[in-house]
Amino acid sequence: MIKFAKPTVNKKALNKIRDIFRSGTFVHGPFTNDFENKLSSFFNLTKNNILTTASCTAALHLYYLSINLKKGDEVIMSAQTHVATAHAVEICGAKPVFVDCEIETGNIDINKIKNKINKNTKCICVTHFLGKPTDMIKINKIAKMFNLRVIEDTALSIGSKIKNKFSGTFGDAGAFSFHPVKIITTGEGGALIVKNEKKFKLIKSLKSFGYDVAEPGKRKIPGNYNINHLGLNYRLSEIEAAIGIEELNEIKKKISVRKKNYIQLFNNIKNCRNFKILNTQSDKRFTSSYYALTIILNSKSKKNRNNIILRLKKNKVQTSIYYPHPVSLLNYYKKKYKYNAKEFTNSMRIAYNSISFPVGPHINSKDINYMSNTIKNLVG
Ligand SMILES: Cc1ncc(COP(=O)(O)O)c(C=O)c1O
Repeated sequence: MIKFAKPTVNKKALNKIRDIFRSGTFVHGPFTNDFENKLSSFFNLTKNNILTTASCTAALHLYYLSINLKKGDEVIMSAQTHVATAHAVEICGAKPVFVDCEIETGNIDINKIKNKINKNTKCICVTHFLGKPTDMIKINKIAKMFNLRVIEDTALSIGSKIKNKFSGTFGDAGAFSFHPVKIITTGEGGALIVKNEKKFKLIKSLKSFGYDVAEPGKRKIPGNYNINHLGLNYRLSEIEAAIGIEELNEIKKKISVRKKNYIQLFNNIKNCRNFKILNTQSDKRFTSSYYALTIILNSKSKKNRNNIILRLKKNKVQTSIYYPHPVSLLNYYKKKYKYNAKEFTNSMRIAYNSISFPVGPHINSKDINYMSNTIKNLVG
């Protein structure tokens, strides 16, 4: 079976994990600090701008907690995103406001944002879809004009760039995911870039229950702490951080294999007549991190798409769907906010007619050729 994703963690991580077993320090330890420092230099950040979190969902939630997002507030986002982008807002009592995506890239349709801004709007949350980033220069212009905060959901797109600057570093904050299907993994895990130093300090405390001194090793009297904020346990463990260090060491190599695989698959199937390929590649302005290659079938039938997926699976090609419904039309959000499906035609077209194929470093050129022939035979 050609899997949609499979972690390719360097075995060197095992040595680090052995060290952790020997030391007995499983949280609040040197590997987490080292991973945060290495992430900071990867993104060319000044110190104290990035912290690790239990997941991307936790990173998003922590940012919203730090700006006191609450009932009555609104956050604008693409309908074609993971539910976590919306849930992080909803869990604070605020309202996610959905905008349709562009049909060419699946990124938020920037031209439709201004219409959704009102006195309750606090933030724009931008999901960089499938590796190709959104134009953050345009987003930041709108945010500045209306005095809004910007958070980038970079779960799928770590390493992608806009005009040679990393996505996730344009907004007030940037959230990343290290889930096993992502570009690099720690098992579960995430990270958050926060530009504002005061907020950074607050989030460091919030991710550890709201402790006055977040790291137990720094307490004068062991076990003695006070609580200054209403926080949660959203930390990354030492084992996860150790895996992350090895993964980050190889991120450039991993993305370049993804690019090679993507281009081979693209060239093999680009002349097929029954689908279009979503534009998630690099171009002059944007550098993609090549999360997946996604096709949009010409036939507008969800049933036909699902049948093709099952036939691909039977032929040992595992695929995925990004994402299976526009978030605005998921049962929970549809029921609560009664969004009109007509507003989300592009998101629906992608959600119900697309198939995403793997391009990760777990597959090789032979796999790509097999996959291409299977696509030609089954989809045409
Ligand atoms: C765009 C986006 N945001 C957030 C998440 C949630 O990430 P995590 O599983 O690390 O919480 C995902 C997961 O796939 C995602 O695709």
